[in-house]
Amino acid sequence: MAPIKNICCIGAGYVGGPTCAVIAYKCHDIKVTICDINAQRIEAWMSDKLPIYEPGLDEVVFSRRGKNLFFSTDVDKHIQEADLIFVSVNTPTKKKGLGAGMAADLAYVEAATRRIAQVSTSSKIVVEKSTVPCRTAESMRAILEANCTANVKFDILSNPEFLAEGTAISDLFNPDRVLIGSLQTESGKVAQQTLADVYANWIPRENIITTNLWSSELSKLAANALLAQRISSINALSAVCEATGADVDEVAYACGRDTRIGSKFLKASVGFGGSCFQKDILNLVYLSTQLNLPEVAEYWKQVYTMNEYQKNRFTRNIISTLFNTITNKKIAVLGFAFKKDTGDTRESAAITLIKSFMEENARVAIYDPKVEAEQIYLDLTEPGVVDNRKQVEKCIEICGSAYEAAKDADALVVVTEWDEFRQLDYNRIYKDMHKPAFVFDGRLMLDAPKLRDIGFKVHVIGKNPLEGRA
Ligand code: NAI
Repeated sequence: MAPIKNICCIGAGYVGGPTCAVIAYKCHDIKVTICDINAQRIEAWMSDKLPIYEPGLDEVVFSRRGKNLFFSTDVDKHIQEADLIFVSVNTPTKKKGLGAGMAADLAYVEAATRRIAQVSTSSKIVVEKSTVPCRTAESMRAILEANCTANVKFDILSNPEFLAEGTAISDLFNPDRVLIGSLQTESGKVAQQTLADVYANWIPRENIITTNLWSSELSKLAANALLAQRISSINALSAVCEATGADVDEVAYACGRDTRIGSKFLKASVGFGGSCFQKDILNLVYLSTQLNLPEVAEYWKQVYTMNEYQKNRFTRNIISTLFNTITNKKIAVLGFAFKKDTGDTRESAAITLIKSFMEENARVAIYDPKVEAEQIYLDLTEPGVVDNRKQVEKCIEICGSAYEAAKDADALVVVTEWDEFRQLDYNRIYKDMHKPAFVFDGRLMLDAPKLRDIGFKVHVIGKNPLEGRA
């Protein structure tokens, strides 16, 4: 097969945008066009203020945009021109119907696939980049074959994305591995090699893994389930630590030094968020149930349940520490994004926490360095959180700094691990807060002994709150 010259990416989101921008950056002789039906998003990709915040992304996009990197809403035209198409659309958890709350909603994948079939006038490689349930490629193939014009052939590959938001660009420059799954047919294997050749422009061949289609699809769900499982495991242990006087950071360090366990992803916290972990675990749970494997489904479900427990446990601890009521008290929430170095708020623990604070009639002051105020209102007025915008506006205040949020607050709650929260002038914050001034560190990131010396009452997940008292 001839080398790829023209790539179209359907979906200009957190994955499609950075992934294909990096391909354009690393392969100057490939024309890459990233398409989306959301005109506002495409406009932002073409402006000075990109629609997503990722360290290093601006440089990559600005250096190739208009040369071999383009953004467009004309999806059909770019499907037609492409040799290879990445399908990188959203696959959220289904909100209603069969499998609601568990199964992946594949409507966007299906719509994109039908479009490819309808408008293609030449053969193409179609790549699943979205995270999908195992055997989705089979449905895509059926749709493509049933709807294409004569003499047009499609090879389907699975190439799940393993980047992490916040470090997307360095992950894409230097991935632990790239995974490409194909049907084990002659033409499937050729297509697999053709995509491998694109990545080989900057990634060592030994880091490009090739498997069958179903292994590749399942590996993405499995990888996210295993990562989330580690977080839920250490979070479960954090509750035991608080009850016994063990220190969860010390336990994680001691366990992580065992090379069979390893040190990464063993940081206790208020719970994982983000668009992927919860969705992909629930997806795996649903898949296992469908495959009549109830014990397997129950096993993975527990990872999700533990995450919900951790968020609720943290909230309950805040309320009980503040003398069992937070009504009319001011709670300063530091961080709203689901993790540092991203403006993404999908499934952020902050949303669950703030919802509980609002239900208890607290006043909530929020500061996040990257999340726009409008996004916070949108998240907090989502159906299922608090439906009424006016009610939300009455309860919350969005602040321009941590100092503004902390002024006259009864408690400071750290939800996102932004580096700048370590550098704050805590003497100033202490002076401005109501006394006793409580700090709840949901990310185990602040210098608790120093804060206690200032006068704060400090509660850290996985650590005994009495620690440090004479
Ligand atoms: P996103 O929601 O940021 O972007 C998806 C984009 O696809 C949206 O802008 C939407 O307008 C567009 N779209 C939907 N249907 C379309 C169509 N028919 N034609 C053109 N555009 C269409 O989603 P994100 O975060 O980029 O995720 C995409 C996929 O990648 C999901 O399956 C996700 O699970 C997976 N993934 C996400 C990661 C992350 O860190 N966000 C990491 C690895 C995988």
